[in-house]
Amino acid sequence: MTAWAELHVHLEGTLEPELIFALARRNGLTLPYADIADLRSRYDFGDLQEFLDLYYANMTVLQHREDFADLTDAYLARAARAGVRRAEVFFDLQAHTGRGVSATEALEGVNDALSRSHERYGITSGLIVTLLRHLSAESAMEAYEQARASGVPLLGIGLCSTEIGNPASRFAEVFDRARADGLHTVAHAGEEGDASYVRDVLDTLRVERVDHGVRAVGDPALVDRLVIEQIPLTVCPFSNVRLKGVESLTVHPLADLLRRGVKVTVNSDDPAYFGGYLDDNLDAVRESLGLSDDEVRTLALNSIEASFAPAEVKAELAATWDYLAAGTTGGRE
Ligand code: ADE
Ligand code: ZN
Repeated sequence: MTAWAELHVHLEGTLEPELIFALARRNGLTLPYADIADLRSRYDFGDLQEFLDLYYANMTVLQHREDFADLTDAYLARAARAGVRRAEVFFDLQAHTGRGVSATEALEGVNDALSRSHERYGITSGLIVTLLRHLSAESAMEAYEQARASGVPLLGIGLCSTEIGNPASRFAEVFDRARADGLHTVAHAGEEGDASYVRDVLDTLRVERVDHGVRAVGDPALVDRLVIEQIPLTVCPFSNVRLKGVESLTVHPLADLLRRGVKVTVNSDDPAYFGGYLDDNLDAVRESLGLSDDEVRTLALNSIEASFAPAEVKAELAATWDYLAAGTTGGRE
């Protein structure tokens, strides 16, 4: 089976309606929805903020260590079926501590599942704490310190949430600190914001990958820079369409960026909300954008190279594509 790396998925965005109801029952909470169908009927978003409002509201069912472990395990099980062999997952720590959940309990729950991902699912994994850009720099630093103090292994830090009007430069200090501590750095940019937001995370946060980044497409000088500096973009096709950043999959800039030499990867972002997991995104872009087998293979190899996995893991995953002659992609089954 050929291997993929998923580099842009928010664990809280994998919270399926069925699990929301199950956790609410387990934790004795009443949800403001009649049933699962009622909840799903609200998954029609005008923009990023409309989505975020529901996403933050739904995650209040996550209260105890085992809730976070169950959430993470369910994602890993589904990701394995999608062909994912490396998962670098995002976790919005402040969205939990901000409503009274202990940082250590939440992180330990996630780690309970991640630490067994290889044994259970053949997936090596890493945890990236995504700081929320609508909150203050002080809050970000506090979250970073809580995460470090928990003792849970961290792969890196990231930046997400409301993009427009929340400049990344406010977070330079915490990103410098994480880098000095040996962590990797990524940030969302160019999802709703224009190309200047992408430049901003490159220049002020000095991130190694840009999450989304699709708005760079309108700025040829920036595209050249992404190619020259080989900065990966973790692109999320379903997400962009469902949040109205891109009109439809058939006009998604993924193919254009790929053909111009940008190291793009395909990811699911918040699959429980946007209509599918990594395999669903791949099947859809392949069809809608007419990607060749070689281009699909390049997307897979990009995801492996752009991951923060150790060299021997990357080599093992990349080798799954070796036996395929150019012109075939093999099945993910
Ligand atoms: N948090 C979860 N999903 C996100 C997205 N698509 N953009 C920004 N922040 C997010
Ligand atoms: Zn995201």
